Amino acid sequence: MNSIPKRYTVTAALPYANGGIHLGHLAGAYLPADIYVRYRRLKGDDVLFICGSDEHGVPITLGARKEGISPQEFVDKYHSLMKESFEKFDISFDIYSRTSNSIHHKTAQEFFLNLFNKDVFTEETSLQYYDEEEKMFLADRYIQGTCPNCGYEKAYGDQCERCGTSLSLKDLKDPVSVLSGKPPIMKETTHWYLPLQNYEPWLRNFILENHKEDWKTNVYGQCKSWLDGGLQPRAMTRDLEWGVKVPLPNTEGKVLYVWFDAPIGYISAAKEWSEKSGKDWVPYWKNTDTKLIHFIGKDNIVFHCIIFPAILHAEGTYIIPENVPANEFLNLEGQKLSTSRNWAVWLHEYLEDFPDKQDELRYVLTSILPETSDSDFSWKDYQTRINSELVAILGNFVNRIWFLSVKYFPTEVPKQYELTEADNKFLIQLKSFPEKIGSHIENYQFREALGELMNLARLGNKYLAENEPWKLFTENDEEQSNNRRVSTILNLALQLTTYLATLSQPFLPFTSKKIFSILNLNPLRLDELEKSPINTVTKLGDGKLLFKKIEDEDISKQILKLHNKSNVKTDSEVKSLKGETIPVKKEISYDDFSNLELKVGTIEKAEKVAKADKLLQLKINLGEEIRTIVSGIAEFYKPEEIVGQQVCVLTNLAPRRIRGIESNGMILMAEDKTGQLCFVMPSFKITDGSKIG
Ligand code: 2FM
Ligand code: ZN
Repeated sequence: MNSIPKRYTVTAALPYANGGIHLGHLAGAYLPADIYVRYRRLKGDDVLFICGSDEHGVPITLGARKEGISPQEFVDKYHSLMKESFEKFDISFDIYSRTSNSIHHKTAQEFFLNLFNKDVFTEETSLQYYDEEEKMFLADRYIQGTCPNCGYEKAYGDQCERCGTSLSLKDLKDPVSVLSGKPPIMKETTHWYLPLQNYEPWLRNFILENHKEDWKTNVYGQCKSWLDGGLQPRAMTRDLEWGVKVPLPNTEGKVLYVWFDAPIGYISAAKEWSEKSGKDWVPYWKNTDTKLIHFIGKDNIVFHCIIFPAILHAEGTYIIPENVPANEFLNLEGQKLSTSRNWAVWLHEYLEDFPDKQDELRYVLTSILPETSDSDFSWKDYQTRINSELVAILGNFVNRIWFLSVKYFPTEVPKQYELTEADNKFLIQLKSFPEKIGSHIENYQFREALGELMNLARLGNKYLAENEPWKLFTENDEEQSNNRRVSTILNLALQLTTYLATLSQPFLPFTSKKIFSILNLNPLRLDELEKSPINTVTKLGDGKLLFKKIEDEDISKQILKLHNKSNVKTDSEVKSLKGETIPVKKEISYDDFSNLELKVGTIEKAEKVAKADKLLQLKINLGEEIRTIVSGIAEFYKPEEIVGQQVCVLTNLAPRRIRGIESNGMILMAEDKTGQLCFVMPSFKITDGSKIG
């Protein structure tokens, strides 16, 4: 794994300071960037990892207006919230800056002036949308209208949130001002434009010629379609009060376009880092042997691959990106994440319920990163991945090896004696993991890389299971060779644990620390692994449980929380909003009710119905008889967990054949609006067969 250290400048998109950080943000840019950077550092590369809050633009001014506070108060509030979320998830930025800093205003203005003095911009006077009531020009998101691409009626002036298309104001049909709700008038104003079309040959060469092989196909494809569609001049200034002032005379009320200043924020952040650390920022932005990598979500591709590189190229003294590994979008429970409808899981809210489960979330999100297409986060999947992967594979292995080591060798770390052929094979396999995991990370395949990390833990479990040290250990002094064998097996498994501790660090930094403390070792770099550092340890540390099982109640609570706080409607709610009545059952008489025969029974047996994911076949003891009932509860209850449970049964329902099984009755269930089911049951144990009524 030895290679010459390289210098990297890694950026993660500056999030707008208009809310918290949610799962989509984490999966889009920050988690992959953090894994990448942590891996590079483990390898000994020199990395500057940059991020900060994007505090300008219409998302900020509109948000502040909505909350009735000043833009500065607004960004102060959300900058702190976002910074704290990143810190709590241990996203390892070298600097988390903000674009309202004076160093940023100065840097962005210098950039603008530099290009202005080189005659890069064209100055154009044109008619722009103006709200007469509010007396202001309506840039970007101040205009809403119908998307020409998908027909969505609330598309913004710069982007349609439904289909994701980047728009310019003139594309929108039937525009209205979001401030007054009225159609705008047209009014003349002057702005400075970047003539992107002049950079087209250079961009074609930079992207289409040089990065056909190494850029992700989604990124390359989007760039190609922009370039093939023909580039247009793009205004780099706006008529707004909030932002970086245009550094030219007589430009009162004009600021730099947020997509001009925000990417320059990466450079300002490096300068701030430099002031704080005393290190020089220049090599990270100007040495051609530095690799610049931008981690972003797919809606930011054009800005990072076309507009910002054109700006950097026009300036001339900066490096341009080596790669822009943009991710697609993460959906939530099958629906598009949406901050306006609050269909999101916010990190600060997640931490209220799971204050020490950062790695669990990092793990699940990394397993489903939308690397090549949109992917979906669901709470049920979160539970399954934690319980059957983190707990059952990784946690189980580390727990077992620690336990066996201290049980059989309480005073020392088990040593390595003679190796068998199988041991040698095991060691060869073990030593191949850094390379396997590393090459996936270097190719931005984080899901695959994490899969290999779990394979490493599987290898550990397999090695212990095949060698069964617990069967070999003996208290008999005459059979010391057996114990030497046990010692060797445990030593090799501990060596594997050092690999797990090190290689899990990019993905699961909290867990990695715990494993190192169990091993009583300081964190290692990749090139130190092969020296078997476990053999320098005299005594293992204390044992720690790495992960705990997630219970069904934890998950139902989260699903309920998501629905309760969002204004995403269930079908029946949508119908009632539209004025369609939700069917209300007709009134019944007491006689109707008394015709139902309801009894308490105990589940005696429960098993899955073959080829039916949702069904369980149950034997219910009703006192005088045992009934077979088929019930659609398999998603919510495991057969082994419900045997012995008392339930309420409708016993005089006509029999039905379900999947070839005759079902005689129905179990009463409660169903919430998410479709979650649970038994309705007696509040204490009562004789089977008791009547309900
Ligand atoms: O899409 C966004 O949230 C933007 N604030 C990203 C900016 S990235 C960079 F250019 F600063
Ligand atoms: Zn659209």
